[in-house]
Amino acid sequence: MTGDPVLYLLGTGAQPVLNIAVAVERAQVDGWQVCLGLTPTAARWLHPYLPGLEALTGSPVRSHYKLPGQDDVWPTADVVLLAPATFNTVNRLALGLTDSFVVGYAAEALGGGIPTVVVPCVNAALAAHPQFARSVETLQAAGGRLLLPETATAPGQDETPGFDWALGLAEARAAHNATSRPV
Ligand SMILES: Cc1cc2nc3c(=O)[nH]c(=O)nc-3n(C[C@H](O)[C@H](O)[C@H](O)COP(=O)(O)O)c2cc1C
Repeated sequence: MTGDPVLYLLGTGAQPVLNIAVAVERAQVDGWQVCLGLTPTAARWLHPYLPGLEALTGSPVRSHYKLPGQDDVWPTADVVLLAPATFNTVNRLALGLTDSFVVGYAAEALGGGIPTVVVPCVNAALAAHPQFARSVETLQAAGGRLLLPETATAPGQDETPGFDWALGLAEARAAHNATSRPV
């Protein structure tokens, strides 16, 4: 418990997730207490680094639902930042398919009025799939703040030079400012 606002940073199986420690550090500099969640794919990719990420955030890195009867190990979120968000996760979130812990948390945040920023990381072919536009529209209509591929781009599945953590973090800050009362 730090008194800082709590950011749930939720990462999925796209290349930029390999640099998620950078995003954690930037968020912490920006005054967030960061709780890091990963899809099973992202957790598998980052497996050797999970102890270091837990040390960095000071919280368990979660990729699975807790068991019935277990306490929540994270403080309540002020803002959720789902980044990078794969095609798979964007669509699952829009369709309400919450078998993944990360998608379940993001879905509850959207439905519960917690500001939710989604930074898709999809290539042009996936972005052109008809479900992607439908999912984006659904999530925006639900109040999600989406940074679309034109602004946070990933031209190919194995190369993501345009992915910009700063955009997602700035949007998370703006979302929090919009919901915080002036002191
Ligand atoms: C090296 C590599 C990079 C990938 N990059 C992306 C990506 O940028 N965007 C995407 O939608 N899928 C990407 N994928 C495919 C996803 O990892 C795959 O769809 C996975 O099922 C996503 O699961 P998740 O959404 O639960 O993390 C990539 C796969 C590999 C092996």
